[in-house]
Amino acid sequence: MDNIRVEGGVPLSGRVRISGAKNAALPILTAALLADGAHTFRNVPDLRDVHTMLRMLRRLGIDAEYERGVATVQARPVLEPVAPYDLVKQMRASVLVLGPLVARYGRASVSLPGGCAIGARPIDQHLRGLEAMGAAVRLEHGYVHVDVPSGRLRGADIYLDFPTVTGTENLLAAAALAEGRTTIGNAAREPEIEELAHVLNKMGASVDGAGTDTIVVEGREQLAPVDHAIIADRIEAGTYMVAAAATRGDVLLEGVQLEHLDAVVAKLREAGVTVEREGDGVRVAHQGRLRPVDATTAPHPGFPTDMQAQLMVLMCRADGQSQIRETVFENRFMHVPELNRMGANIAVDGRTATVRGVPRLGGAQVMATDLRASASLVIAGLVAEGVTEVLRVYHIDRGYERIEEKLAGLGAHIERVSGHA
Ligand code: UD1
Repeated sequence: MDNIRVEGGVPLSGRVRISGAKNAALPILTAALLADGAHTFRNVPDLRDVHTMLRMLRRLGIDAEYERGVATVQARPVLEPVAPYDLVKQMRASVLVLGPLVARYGRASVSLPGGCAIGARPIDQHLRGLEAMGAAVRLEHGYVHVDVPSGRLRGADIYLDFPTVTGTENLLAAAALAEGRTTIGNAAREPEIEELAHVLNKMGASVDGAGTDTIVVEGREQLAPVDHAIIADRIEAGTYMVAAAATRGDVLLEGVQLEHLDAVVAKLREAGVTVEREGDGVRVAHQGRLRPVDATTAPHPGFPTDMQAQLMVLMCRADGQSQIRETVFENRFMHVPELNRMGANIAVDGRTATVRGVPRLGGAQVMATDLRASASLVIAGLVAEGVTEVLRVYHIDRGYERIEEKLAGLGAHIERVSGHA
């Protein structure tokens, strides 16, 4: 298994291009199941999760190829609409095939994701929405089996208990082929939802209100294949912003959609970091001291849970005490003990982490436990004195394209090494 070795202390500088958004690519790839024919998706990041989703499509009998950012999917009728355990256990977002499969074939079986490192993450809201649209749900032998007795979902008024991202996406895709109108209330408002709605509309669907908390979908009998370029990854962008600030660097991010990053940019500016548009890019720079800032994660447009670990590393370098509250997932502070081993001073009480800034972090061997936690440890390594080795970087490969190359391009002393852990 590969590790990442970082020698800290170099301020990042230069330009970095932000890749396509993983969390937009995944639901969009599954949307191809809604219409037979040749789909082309561009700006698709070369990530483990994307390849897992392409494998899932192939397992369903669909040709799915990937070459240098372009995914071509030749959709044809699926004979066995089943998402098997070996793929779902690698990536929880595999559940995104559920909505499209049920809408298209009136049935689907998806292995239930097992215990996940960051909280329980159930899919009850996905299933309740499908039930409201006329599906029957049965749990058996670790699989959830969804059947539509009438063969076609019908539109319904759905109100989510929590604005779940993949839940909203599953129901949105399902509603696109349902009979009649579906309203999804308390819908997730993430930019990736808007992006999926945009793609569905290009395919001939009628989706209104994506990006607000109420989405209205008029179901269609049929959709058509699509050619689409995927938006930039706001979380990758936010991660490089924090890396630039934490190392007291000066970095120009290219291809960012700054309007997707309001909550992150607000916190960076509050901490004293310079974030400004420059030409087509966004310049992030910092020198001197950092002010401590408090943050609470929340569904979009709140501060993203996927940026919580990275902000925490930044706060380790602030002058004073900050509090970071995690409200989206329980148990998403697994980076804390590792950061403390590097000399951070972070105390966790329930869902709140209290971070006291320290004058220095020291390099250490640390273990990545999930995708964003891994990113935070790499940033900590960039800041720390001495050498940090982040073990088990396969987590990082799920969500960051060529991270060591991109950081090396910004001057970091970083390399991937074949490891033992
Ligand atoms: C998506 C993102 C992930 C991000 C998360 C929150 C993708 C592929 N992944 O994950 O990167 O961290 O949003 O922004 O887009 N919940 C329920 N019942 C459900 C569904 C969710 O109780 O049916 C709860 C979960 O336990 C969790 C919270 O809702 O506490 C948020 O989960 P959700 O928005 O569903 O996250 P994902 O869609 O899995």
